[in-house]
Amino acid sequence: MYKQIGVLTGGGDAPGLNAVIRAVVRTAHGEFGMKCIGIEDSFEGILGEPKVIKLGMKAVSGILPRGGTILGTRNKGSFAKIIDGKLVIPEMPITEAISNLQALEIEALIVIGGEGTLAIAEQFQKHGFPVIGVPKTIDNDLSATELTFGFMTAIDIATEALDRLHTTAASHDRVMILEVMGRNTGWIALHAGLAGSADVILIPEIPFSFDSIVDKIKAREKSGSRFTVVVVAEGAVEVGTQPIYLDKEALRLGGVGSHLRRRIEAETGKESRCVVLGHLQRGGSPNAFDRMLGTNFGACAVRALLNGQTGKMVALQAGTVTTVPLADAVANIKKVSIDGQLVRTARDIGISFAAPNEAKL
Ligand code: F6P
Repeated sequence: MYKQIGVLTGGGDAPGLNAVIRAVVRTAHGEFGMKCIGIEDSFEGILGEPKVIKLGMKAVSGILPRGGTILGTRNKGSFAKIIDGKLVIPEMPITEAISNLQALEIEALIVIGGEGTLAIAEQFQKHGFPVIGVPKTIDNDLSATELTFGFMTAIDIATEALDRLHTTAASHDRVMILEVMGRNTGWIALHAGLAGSADVILIPEIPFSFDSIVDKIKAREKSGSRFTVVVVAEGAVEVGTQPIYLDKEALRLGGVGSHLRRRIEAETGKESRCVVLGHLQRGGSPNAFDRMLGTNFGACAVRALLNGQTGKMVALQAGTVTTVPLADAVANIKKVSIDGQLVRTARDIGISFAAPNEAKL
């Protein structure tokens, strides 16, 4: 039984982080009488003069509906470097961090984060420090869990944006393009595109043909729909090309929506606009589902630690929270299945993915 555990949040913020922190603290205190220490600014807070706060019941009171993370977060720093487009975790800070954790009498860590953060957490475990991971990301791209918290809220926000863009598209007979996040996966674009009735969904898993987008716009025009709504994932690629980056060195995607807007306007003569939804997808209050999932993940993470499990990540599988090896969780990115049910359904109801052979699919 641990007397004191640490909790930290890493990577980009996502709605529901505070729900997890609150559940960790309440479960640890209430049921097991364990103390919780919050580590600020992700793993960076363990280096040098550690930045930590005691997390009692009062500290987590009222935080369930709050966006962001009361602990702060970082998506870059000493623990991860991007070298030649790959994440590299240096050895040094891990050993320093573990001795700092021991000095603080923190016996185990609950690490809430996405792929990069959980890969760092796995290194702590490999160095003998007990860790349980909690999967977070609006991108929903983590393997071994059906859902990450933050994703459902991001979809709600993107869906509302599509609803709003529809009214302008229809009133002005325009092509409206919404660029959404998701890194190299199309989960947000696919789900929001279905929920928000996009006419074209562009995702990294299905490289698009520009001609196919134009065909769809023209076909709609011919059938009397003089507007088109396109949702494009930031990582979507045209066949035979590379993703478009705002900052290639830092691997920050962005710009595909504006790029398409210019070309669509030039090719079709239709007035076109692009909206980049950006960090609005990550900010603000979590929806009910993410509050519930984050709470369940947080409580299950504490129970897993106390059941003697370490080096695991809590995960949603078949609607139930279970645990999986951290190594499985970070081994691969979870991509949209190009012949999966949602893609099929979208096509069946007339949504185009602008694949080169889209008309035949
Ligand atoms: O992984 C979450 C995410 O929001 C991605 O969808 C996006 O590509 C990236 O983070 C943006 O990161 P930053 O906040 O550093 O701009």
